[in-house]
Amino acid sequence: MQTHKLGLADVQVSALCLGAMYFGSRNSQADSERLLDIYTDAGGSFIDTANIYAWWVDGFRGGESETLMGEWMRQRNNRSQLFIASKVGFGYADVPITLSARWIEEECNKSLKRMGIETIDLYYAHVDDRNTPLDETLEAFDKLVKAGKVRYVGASNYLAWRLEQAKWVSQTHQWAQFTCIQQHYTYLPLRPGTSPAPQVFANEDLLDYCRSTGMTLLAYSALQSGAYTRPERSLPDRLVSADNDKRLAMLRTVAQEAGVTVNQVILRWMIQRDIIPLIAASTPEQMTENIGALNFQLSAGQMQRLNEAGTD
Ligand SMILES: NC(=O)c1ccc[n+]([C@@H]2O[C@H](COP(=O)([O-])OP(=O)(O)OC[C@H]3O[C@@H](n4cnc5c(N)ncnc54)[C@H](OP(=O)(O)O)[C@@H]3O)[C@@H](O)[C@H]2O)c1
Repeated sequence: MQTHKLGLADVQVSALCLGAMYFGSRNSQADSERLLDIYTDAGGSFIDTANIYAWWVDGFRGGESETLMGEWMRQRNNRSQLFIASKVGFGYADVPITLSARWIEEECNKSLKRMGIETIDLYYAHVDDRNTPLDETLEAFDKLVKAGKVRYVGASNYLAWRLEQAKWVSQTHQWAQFTCIQQHYTYLPLRPGTSPAPQVFANEDLLDYCRSTGMTLLAYSALQSGAYTRPERSLPDRLVSADNDKRLAMLRTVAQEAGVTVNQVILRWMIQRDIIPLIAASTPEQMTENIGALNFQLSAGQMQRLNEAGTD
């Protein structure tokens, strides 16, 4: 699979990252393993999970995704070929929402144990915590790197100015720095004044910050749960506007011209803008369609029309 440099880290990762959020909960063990196999058979090696996945699904407590990943890696004996990302910071079960040193260390140990691995390749702060000093959080992440439990650290759901603040704290102390930022992002921009809080949407400010610093944006919820193409699902109100109707029309036009699907255009548009989309799927057909975003190219003219649609 095509690769992409992971922001400030000196490492290449798959251009499409596989989201494992519902593996082991909403997606059965057999379905999840099949989806993981399809992704890795296509050459993908970058898999995204978190300690909390997926506590909010009825009958589950969190940790199921990591446990399933561990089982699958043991069965396939493929740990060394993968780049595994996990996260800490949101609350679940008896764990509070926090990035305090104690919980970062405890949760990292739990994640390693669930997955049965010695090192997490990329460990994210899952959500900004304004109640814990950045120094405490960043020192805790640095200790994990020095102990070999984590290779790189990343941020998720942070504003650009907080990333810059974190960068200065890390550099001052020579601690491991956030290398990349994972944010809610899709082809349609948010209506002004709206937000998917507590998730943070990648706005122009953040995109500019990424371009200027070399930090890579990883986009989650890129396909808005399939709402771009599935008549039974609707886009959230915060993405509905007259300008966005024009963007939707442009997506359909370009998809038709290129002979691909609307979902593939969205993912491809991101890849060609140096963004790594997270793909998720609950069927082999969805997974194959999403991976198909790697098999074509949008022309410069198509990129320009997609970028400019709805902005006049
Ligand atoms: N950092 C964070 O705060 C954060 C937040 C959310 C997610 N994430 C990460 O990002 C990953 C993706 O997030 P997401 O689930 O919100 O992504 P998404 O792309 O918005 O939604 C994925 C869902 O869309 C549907 N779908 C996917 N491909 C499709 C296709 N080709 N055609 C029709 N429907 C399709 C499926 O829904 P059905 O299963 O219902 O069929 C699939 O489960 C997660 O697994 C997780 O790793 C991170």
